[in-house]
Amino acid sequence: MAELDLLRSLPKPKRNIEKRAAAKDPAVIAVAKQYGEMYWDGPREYGYGGYRYDGRWRSVARDIIAHYGLRAGMRALDIGCGKGFLVKDLMLECPGLEAFGLDISRYAIMHAPEELTGRLHLGTADRLPFADHSLDCVLSLNTIHNLPRPRAAAAMAEIERVSRGKSFVVVDSYRTPHEKEIFESWVLTAEFHDYPEGWLKLFREAGYSGDWNWTIIK
Ligand SMILES: C[S@@+](CC[C@H](N)C(=O)[O-])C[C@H]1O[C@@H](n2cnc3c(N)ncnc32)[C@H](O)[C@@H]1O
Repeated sequence: MAELDLLRSLPKPKRNIEKRAAAKDPAVIAVAKQYGEMYWDGPREYGYGGYRYDGRWRSVARDIIAHYGLRAGMRALDIGCGKGFLVKDLMLECPGLEAFGLDISRYAIMHAPEELTGRLHLGTADRLPFADHSLDCVLSLNTIHNLPRPRAAAAMAEIERVSRGKSFVVVDSYRTPHEKEIFESWVLTAEFHDYPEGWLKLFREAGYSGDWNWTIIK
């Protein structure tokens, strides 16, 4: 179990915190939480502001493959895979790897690259349609905080159940009251968030034995 920065190669997102905070109201949040077209490809106030494949996950895929020693014939799952770009890049970077995704967003799965047909499951992180210890590597990036605390803990227990020991999650966090304030101005969909100690407590409760990192907005 370790804190790892496997997303270090991603470009830093551009965030206009003031604009988001001014636009954010319960109606905007309700639309974002549907994870539909507005969240992915609508105005930035509702989510991604347009999300297209641009190869940015390839270097992340390389770092994950190298760190966990993934090889052809192994099986990997990305929980909260969105449009499946990391799933695609894992398979490009490691030919023969059997990579799968799961997401609650029908829109994202319907707008995934064509070659992922049959690899992306519609479902929820706290009920994974995979057998015990059936996956060599389980990833979940920026997703688990979208469940309320009891379900987030259930999702972490699910990762532990389906994994053979290599797993990595990234969740929203903050280290100071100032970072918490910035986070709260920005956040749209998170149902549970906490300081690192709070998350580590949840991981322990769930029996999670994998690796992790935090998304901290500064
Ligand atoms: C911020 S996006 C992250 C997407 C991708 N993993 C990334 O890092 O770019 C959050 C994702 O969580 C998904 N999501 C939200 N609730 C979920 C749930 N209960 N189970 C699975 N996926 C969920 C959303 O549809 C969305 O794809």
